[in-house]
Amino acid sequence: AKKAVLGPLVGAVDQGTSSTRFLVFNSKTAELLSHHQVEIKQEFPREGWVEQDPKEILQSVYECIEKTCEKLGQLNIDISNIKAIGVSNQRETTVVWDKLTGEPLYNAVVWLDLRTQSTVENLSKRIPGNNNFVKSKTGLPLSTYFSAVKLRWLLDNVRTVQKAVEENRALFGTIDSWLIWSLTGGINGGVHCTDVTNASRTMLFNIHSLEWDKELCEFFGIPKEILPNVRSSSEIYGLMKAGALEGVPISGCLGDQSAALVGQMCFQDGQAKNTYGTGCFLLCNTGRKCVFSEHGLLTTVAYKLGRDKPVYYALEGSVAIAGAVIRWLRDNLGIIKSSEEIEKLAKEVGTSYGCYFVPAFSGLYAPYWEPSARGIICGLTQFTNKCHIAFAALEAVCFQTREILDAMNRDCGIPLSHLQVDGGMTSNKILMQLQADILYIPVVKPSMPETTALGAAMAAGAAEGVGVWSLEPEDLSAVTMERFEPQINAEESEIRYSTWKKAVMKSIGWVT
Ligand code: G3P
Repeated sequence: AKKAVLGPLVGAVDQGTSSTRFLVFNSKTAELLSHHQVEIKQEFPREGWVEQDPKEILQSVYECIEKTCEKLGQLNIDISNIKAIGVSNQRETTVVWDKLTGEPLYNAVVWLDLRTQSTVENLSKRIPGNNNFVKSKTGLPLSTYFSAVKLRWLLDNVRTVQKAVEENRALFGTIDSWLIWSLTGGINGGVHCTDVTNASRTMLFNIHSLEWDKELCEFFGIPKEILPNVRSSSEIYGLMKAGALEGVPISGCLGDQSAALVGQMCFQDGQAKNTYGTGCFLLCNTGRKCVFSEHGLLTTVAYKLGRDKPVYYALEGSVAIAGAVIRWLRDNLGIIKSSEEIEKLAKEVGTSYGCYFVPAFSGLYAPYWEPSARGIICGLTQFTNKCHIAFAALEAVCFQTREILDAMNRDCGIPLSHLQVDGGMTSNKILMQLQADILYIPVVKPSMPETTALGAAMAAGAAEGVGVWSLEPEDLSAVTMERFEPQINAEESEIRYSTWKKAVMKSIGWVT
């Protein structure tokens, strides 16, 4: 059959904590033409530990690319129209591998992992100068969340890692680096790089000079030789070395939250988006200014779309557990069989009936930064059933968003008039309505929720030498918006929120 002729296409890998996806977009309209998704295993070898297999992650990327290309073939779309590939990824998750064998030297230590709590405590006792040493350079609080402490732990505890470093065989990277190195050839000339957004989550990167920071590397005891080269978020890093898309340039790379900011076209100072994935992340573009929060938010690199383009910064409210609470209800409690069922359960009751669920499985991130918190479900009576708990889990995602939105409004001075949202969970209509009710502002979601992948595709398509995406608003003509208006009154919303805060206080200090 004759293959349909289309404008240039751009593919994007979206490697999240829960799943890997590959998606192909039409660069003229941002229309999503085809995609494939594979769920990723998470291992919990000990209480608080979270690991993933870097090879499974890489394999899932190849599988998604091959399957998506097959689907495009069935649609009569010629895959030679794919002109570039972007990569977006779960951030902070730490991999060390052997550059001679291509083998990971340990499992990936996932961003949610808490094993480095004592590493963090020891390091914080010997912070040079004042407590601002790390924050002023990186925009981040010293926490188990970021890569430097995970890498420190690997260097202290894993003999194979220590040996590979001594023998100059070790490479460190976040998931983007691991993937780009592997996809561009691995042991046969793979490119060892990362982009400024991912680098800004390691705690080793100076967000002002945009370089690995010598003093931070010394403080954490990290040898600079194992770190990847830091590049912009939009330039050709290398070419795919194998598979259906062999020879296609990889030319976009952004941490997933930055990618979503780009995909939502939040290019102006003050524009913000909230993405509901495994965690939940609200980012507000602060333009060329590095704004430091007074209310528990992070300062992070938003994007740098080209080698000679300026860097943009964002304030970020990070919530560790959002979609992960639904997965927990499915995998650990078994009260639902698939994530989609949560909506049906919640709808049956339409209220939590006074039950509050604080899913502080990995402590609490923004705005509290409380590693001592643990999850609690409270307000239970004999009347409470699994539907109320399901509802409370959804409400928890919304309350946590309210907390980071309040912090953002305080830091920025001008309250957001509406919230732009995206991510897998936004297909849940109950969640979206609850979110509007709890924030008491409208919630606006694009018809195509894969904004993270779209942002990575846009960066890849706009790169010098590719030039098929102009980043103008009309390039998103296939994307329409859906709006959820608050339906309860402000007073009711406040009462619910203040009871949530009481529950949060009970979760803090659970472990010492
Ligand atoms: O910082 C962690 C974040 O990048 C994870 O994103 O989409 O897996 O929740 P996600």
